[in-house]
Amino acid sequence: MAAASAALMEVLEGEDDDDGEMVVGLGSYGGRVRLLGGGGGCDEEGEVAAAETMLLWGLQQPTLVQPNAFVSQSSLALAIETCGRSLSILQSPSSLITPGVTGSVMWDSGIVLGKFLEHAVDSGMLLLQGKKVVELGSGCGLVGCISALLGAQVILTDLPDRLRLLRKNVETNLKHEEMRGSAVVKELTWGDDPDRDLIQPLPDYVLGSDVIYSEGAVEDLMETLLQLSGIQTTIILAGELRNDSILEYFLDAVMKYFVVGRVDEAQFHPDYRSRRVAMYVLVKK
Ligand SMILES: C[S@@+](CC[C@H](N)C(=O)[O-])C[C@H]1O[C@@H](n2cnc3c(N)ncnc32)[C@H](O)[C@@H]1O
Repeated sequence: MAAASAALMEVLEGEDDDDGEMVVGLGSYGGRVRLLGGGGGCDEEGEVAAAETMLLWGLQQPTLVQPNAFVSQSSLALAIETCGRSLSILQSPSSLITPGVTGSVMWDSGIVLGKFLEHAVDSGMLLLQGKKVVELGSGCGLVGCISALLGAQVILTDLPDRLRLLRKNVETNLKHEEMRGSAVVKELTWGDDPDRDLIQPLPDYVLGSDVIYSEGAVEDLMETLLQLSGIQTTIILAGELRNDSILEYFLDAVMKYFVVGRVDEAQFHPDYRSRRVAMYVLVKK
């Protein structure tokens, strides 16, 4: 329990908002998040997870919003302005027809998370300069590339057979000599023992966008989150609101080991807000 004390100190200083939700600072993210299960009412993780998904689907009505509003998944490259640079993220739309391949194109939550990081650093809510960042399920690599441009030492990871496009995107977009951070690509299959470089030292931040999309992968993903996080680690996950039962399943599972807070959409980058994307900050209990 000592591990959680630093993160929870801020939690104890949190305040209730008008809806009775507890609004707190969590981990190294300087903004305020809505603590799941912190506003009273329900005690069990299952109840909290069910209430959270009901709230999101009830309030945000994500299914009424157009999916992938920020990306064209049929294009061979996605152009995006970030950190004073023009990035060109290569995609492989034809690979999407291969069963199990999802990271060969960009997804909205990757853009929302990447631009959120830029916005949070610009507004002093987040410090990535010199920090160790591990990105899970990097896909085309936008989030990791933005983190490196913001000064972090980034390890972008994905399944072993998904690394070619990821490496190409890192090499193409991060070759400038004056870059503040660094980026390397490594394989990491969730649930497997991570390479030493990933855990020694443990990362300051673990990032993931659209990595919660099947119940089958939740146990392995959670195992990896546990392996990669220590007292100083802040996890930031952005997820597409496609399926309420998968999100509920994930939240129920992670809340046993992590304190979880939702970032309000108002804190996303003003040009990259979506009711289909939810963002969570997690710290180990
Ligand atoms: C929906 S894609 C999201 C890609 C990217 N983060 C984005 O937002 O555009 C999910 C990513 O998770 C990776 N992934 C799925 N299962 C995985 C596993 N068991 N271990 C490691 N990565 C996995 C996929 O290869 C893919 O890159």
